Amino acid sequence: MRVIYDCDPGIDDTYALIYLAALAHTQDIELECVTTSAGNVDADQCARNAAWILSLCGLPTIPLAAGMQAPLEWELTTTPDTHGDTGLGYATAPTRHVEHDWAMLWCDAIDRGTDDLHLIITGPMTNLAAFAHLHPQHYAKLQHITVMGGAFLYPGNTTPTAEWNFWVDPHAAKHVFATTPSPITVCPLNVTERMILTPDHLERIIDTLGTSPLAQHLEPITRFYFEFHEDTGDGYQAQIHDLLTVMVALKQVPSDSRLSTADLEPNSPLTRGTSIADDTGMWDRDPNAHILTNADITTAWQLFDTACSTHARIHAGDPALERLRHMRADD
Ligand code: BDR
Ligand code: CA
Repeated sequence: MRVIYDCDPGIDDTYALIYLAALAHTQDIELECVTTSAGNVDADQCARNAAWILSLCGLPTIPLAAGMQAPLEWELTTTPDTHGDTGLGYATAPTRHVEHDWAMLWCDAIDRGTDDLHLIITGPMTNLAAFAHLHPQHYAKLQHITVMGGAFLYPGNTTPTAEWNFWVDPHAAKHVFATTPSPITVCPLNVTERMILTPDHLERIIDTLGTSPLAQHLEPITRFYFEFHEDTGDGYQAQIHDLLTVMVALKQVPSDSRLSTADLEPNSPLTRGTSIADDTGMWDRDPNAHILTNADITTAWQLFDTACSTHARIHAGDPALERLRHMRADD
C-alpha cells in the first residue's frame, strides 16, 4: 500500500503521523508524501510541525510540502484553543524552510499507479478540491480516498451541527462530494469521538516509546489537548479522530460503513459545514460516500501501542527489526 497523507497537524494528526511512520519503517506502507492544509494552524506551520514529527520518527526525508494557504471561499479560521498557538499544544517545532510543490508530489504518486494508492485527508479538503481543478485527469484516477470530517445527525464540535474540518472549508468538501471519481470513505465525529486517549494510557505509550525522541515531546503536546477536552466538558482525556481515520483508511481495524450520498451546506452562517446524508435515494443522486458507522476502538489502540514499540525498537537499532525491514525491502 502506498499513502499520500494530507493533514493539518494538529495534535490528533500527530498521532496519525506517528502511526504511519511506524508502518513505513516496517515496510507495511510506502509513505509517498505528506502534504498539509490550512486548518488547525496555517498550512506552512502545519508543514513545519509534520516535518518535525517525521524527523522525531526517524523519517526526515519523506517528501513534504505545504498545500493551499486558505479555504476556497471563507477566510481561514484556525483553532489555537484546541491545538495551541503552534498546533502542537505546549511544544514548538523548529523553524525550517517549507516546500510548496504539493500538487506535483500528488501527481508523481498518481503517475506511479492508483490501484494501491490511498489518499488520506485529516484536515479541511481544500487541497483535494483545488487538485480537482488543477489536475482533473490525475484527480479522476484516484480510487481510494478517506477523509476525517462531518457529523451526521450528530452534535458538531464547532457549531451545534458542524464538525471542524468540514466547517473550515465547506466549499471544498462540497466540491469533492459533487465530483469524486468514486465513493469516498468518510470518518465522521459519530465514530471518531470514540477514539479516546486517557492520561494513564498516554503514560504507558510514553513508556513504550523508550528512548525514541518522541517520548519526551508527546506529553506536552497531548497535555494541551487533555486540557482542551476538559474545558469543553468532555473530561481530562482526548479524542484522537485522525489516528482512527488513518487506520480505517488502511483497513487495519474492523469497521462498518453505509453507502450513502453526502453533501453539505457551505454558505449559511447558521448551518455552515453541516453534513447531510441521503440514505434512501430521496435526492435521486448516485452514492458518493461510505460513511463510517462503527470501528473497533480496542484494536485501534492496540495497533497504536505496537506502532510505538516499533519506534522504540527502531531507535534502539533492534537487529531483528532491521532484518525484517531489509527482507521486506528486497521483496
Ligand atoms: C478534526 O478537527 C481537527 O481539529 C482535528 O485535527 C480533526 O481532524 C476533528 O473535528
Ligand atoms: Ca486534523
